[in-house]
Amino acid sequence: AELQRPAAWREVSEPEIDDGKKKVTVLFGTQTGTAEGFAKSLAEEAKARYDKAKFKVVDMDEYAADDDEYEENMKKETLVLFFMATYGDGEPTDNAARFYKWFTEGKERGIWLDNLTYAIFGLGNRQYEHFNKVAKVVDDILAEQGGKRLVPVGLGDDDQCIEDDFTAWKEQLWPELDQLLRDEDDIAGGTYTVVVPEYRVEFIDFAGASYTEKSWNLANGGAVCDINHPCRANVALRRELHTSASDRSCIHLEFDIAGTGLVYETGDHVGVYAENCLETVEEAEKLLGYSSDTFFSIHADKEDGTPLSGGALAPPFPSPCTLRTALTRYADLLSSPKKASLSALAAHASDPNEAERLRFLASPSGKDEYSQWVIASHRSLLEVMAEFPSAKPPLGVFFAAIAPRLQHRFYSISSSSRFNSIPLEESEECSWAPIFVRQSNFKLPADNSVPIIMIGPGTGLAPFRGFLQERLALKQSGAVLGPAILFFGCRNRKMDFIYEDELKSFVEAGVVSELIVAFSREGATKEYVQHKMVEKASEIWDVISNGGYIYVCGDAKGMAKDVHRTIHNIVQEQGSLDSSKTESLVKNLQMQGRYLRDVW
Ligand code: 2AM
Repeated sequence: AELQRPAAWREVSEPEIDDGKKKVTVLFGTQTGTAEGFAKSLAEEAKARYDKAKFKVVDMDEYAADDDEYEENMKKETLVLFFMATYGDGEPTDNAARFYKWFTEGKERGIWLDNLTYAIFGLGNRQYEHFNKVAKVVDDILAEQGGKRLVPVGLGDDDQCIEDDFTAWKEQLWPELDQLLRDEDDIAGGTYTVVVPEYRVEFIDFAGASYTEKSWNLANGGAVCDINHPCRANVALRRELHTSASDRSCIHLEFDIAGTGLVYETGDHVGVYAENCLETVEEAEKLLGYSSDTFFSIHADKEDGTPLSGGALAPPFPSPCTLRTALTRYADLLSSPKKASLSALAAHASDPNEAERLRFLASPSGKDEYSQWVIASHRSLLEVMAEFPSAKPPLGVFFAAIAPRLQHRFYSISSSSRFNSIPLEESEECSWAPIFVRQSNFKLPADNSVPIIMIGPGTGLAPFRGFLQERLALKQSGAVLGPAILFFGCRNRKMDFIYEDELKSFVEAGVVSELIVAFSREGATKEYVQHKMVEKASEIWDVISNGGYIYVCGDAKGMAKDVHRTIHNIVQEQGSLDSSKTESLVKNLQMQGRYLRDVW
């Protein structure tokens, strides 16, 4: 059960041995692993710095099994460092969702955290409307409920260099932590220590033992299928949606989920675990200096190095397995390395010049060089490693501190669960992927007669194709449908007007009342969906004032922001409202779940 959640926090934290050390909990809410990486590297640095303290890094989801346990555990805390990422539309990460809901929507608690001292570092992106919302909200509530804030909330901005924001925040934090945790006898150090690996790698004697490789614990046919228990689904169809006139690509992919046990509802997301291609993996094997059939098992040690019993930390991935499998499935080799990865590489570079250059790149003084040479030139981890051939980290270090875990990716499902899919040909050598479903609140109104407006340029069309299939199925079964206006946008009808025929047939079938398309690169000036919305301002206002729903899907940074502003302007003008009334009307739409966004 390698992919299962490790035993709940309470099982590993009791009985607490009183060794006189001050306990510090480091909680992280992570989506792509950055917050987790920061949490771990901070804990490593802090461990080296403070002898008299004990650091425990815990995934927010694993911190407590339910709300009561969150409360119970939080009550006992005296010092907590939070790392909380915000993503999409101001939402917490999946692994922080339960905590966030409990903490922000829960009952009135009064001042109950007066034993707690805390610090929060937020991870967000300034391009998004709700920049670091999660960290800010948690920070406010903690302070309100009696927590003592050690340093101002750190607002990490991924649009710039988030590692520098992290470094700057740590600079503020150390003097405060020194006061709380430093032993009189400690030397005032403050050196920047390399991230020490969390994982222990054991090589298994290949000759003597007949171990079989552990792979995905596929949940096909089982009771649960979720992020930790993906199902194997065969790819039934793969089709390019752009025409050959386009220099971009957009792939339509169908998974055959018959018999897998996977269930979804129209508007949900599919999570896909994709693999690295063979070429990439072979290059990594070469750079690491291990052969592809190196067979190993990997464990996350408890802090004190004792073997796992209850499982303080889940193993990073299922093992034993070959290096080939591990690199193919679990290592992100193609993203640009973080500074912490460069520090860890430096520690294992046998050539002193290489080590020095790596350390420089990872240091605050190498900031500009790092931004240029790594980030701006999109150098992948592999490309960087190729420049430093003497850096040969042990596998334990590589998987813990250098290559981040290869992340699943989410996609908006573009079909309706009601719509019968066409029986598909079984192909012999079909490709497949472990997938799972993530529920969303991006759903059609329960009442089919309610009018809706859908805004989805480019790939933002995806969930609306599902909506329209659903409406067609509903109509065929006799339901009376309310009006539906679809705003779609693309560059040029000859290139990327995806699903053009389907959309037109939805119009003919009466499941779309109006299909309005903005072509951004056909005329002399750019036409975007929001320009078309302005032309239809009074219709949009009618829908809003008649209890209708508005859906927006697609790019969060540009499109969704601009569309939001446009909705605001339409409401203000059509409703003849002042700006604060407009603001609260739009907020209300969001609160009532009548203005829904699926943006990324
Ligand atoms: P462009 O590429 O010509 O700028 C789907 O990608 C469509 O969305 C394209 O036509 C693209 O136009 C357009 N688009 C780009 N930025 C946008 C924005 N801020 N608002 C709305 N549409 C946008």
